[in-house]
Amino acid sequence: MIHYTELGLQNTKELFRKAFDGKYAIPAYNFNNLEQLQAIIKGCVETKSPVILQVSKGARAYANGTLLRYLAQGAVAYAKELGAEIPIVLHLDHGDSFETVKSCIESGFSSVMIDGSHYSYEENIRVTKEVVDYAHQYGVTVEGELGVLAGIEDEVSSEHSHYTQPEEVIDFVKRTGVDSLAISIGTSHGAYKFKPGESTELRFDILEEIEKKIPGFPIVLHGASSVVQEYVDTINECGGKLENAIGVSEDQLRRAASSAVCKINIDSDGRLAMTAAIRKVFAKNPEEFDPRKYLGPARDELVRLIKNKNEKVLGSAGHAFD
Ligand code: G3H
Ligand code: 13P
Ligand code: ZN
Repeated sequence: MIHYTELGLQNTKELFRKAFDGKYAIPAYNFNNLEQLQAIIKGCVETKSPVILQVSKGARAYANGTLLRYLAQGAVAYAKELGAEIPIVLHLDHGDSFETVKSCIESGFSSVMIDGSHYSYEENIRVTKEVVDYAHQYGVTVEGELGVLAGIEDEVSSEHSHYTQPEEVIDFVKRTGVDSLAISIGTSHGAYKFKPGESTELRFDILEEIEKKIPGFPIVLHGASSVVQEYVDTINECGGKLENAIGVSEDQLRRAASSAVCKINIDSDGRLAMTAAIRKVFAKNPEEFDPRKYLGPARDELVRLIKNKNEKVLGSAGHAFD
């Protein structure tokens, strides 16, 4: 067992309190490899933003859980070397079972999500409470989820979304003891969040109802990529095929960030930024085969994306040392 404090990591408690009071959201960026991690740390150090490094079950299977843990430990040292010891959280994204959560906490995660949203309400409460009781012994913060997002993820999939029911949140939060709550108000995972012609408005009325029920409680927004059109266009111009990819508007994300939403999850935008940059390199230089020559530009593009998110959308820039 290695405790997250030994790695220089933080849990989300204080960070969410400050984000709530300051009306901004902490960015939670998913990573699977070295270049993504380098970009996330560089982008957040350069904007002086706290950051949540997010690891999915799929990421652990892809990159190896042990290696990821050392990467996160390295990230703390890297931030210091870059000149700013920004707060860094290592978070399990969409934890699917008590066993996965336990293994992450034992390897140094400072925060975990238990996603019981696909279970019945009572079963969701049962698994979430089991995780909370374990995690809190180690000071690890827990994110639960109520309501179901549409879209496909590695381990959790749902064809249709079910908005969070505000009537349930008080009971859920009380009975589970979670530290934050992910909700469903119209976002979904991936690059195809809305159909062409369909309204892209999120259900802020539901969010407001929830805020009234649990005042001051940190809310989490999943599926919050904007699906930056410039990247989609570059990908399509350089041989890719992403048709009708539509995300959440930056205006709506700004509105969410200034509300009780304290954590905004972004994965797809990072994937698009890197893919656009890589396709650009190959379109221009088809003879290129040194990974540094395409992963380097992909990393640089991801830094640009992250700085823009922190500064212009989530408002977390400048809040690392609040
Ligand atoms: O919510 C899902 C995240 O985008 C992680 O995706 O399971 O493909 O790693 P993944
Ligand atoms: P996006 O697919 O919109 O980036 O959402 C990521 C997410 O919610 C990770 O948990
Ligand atoms: Zn998610």
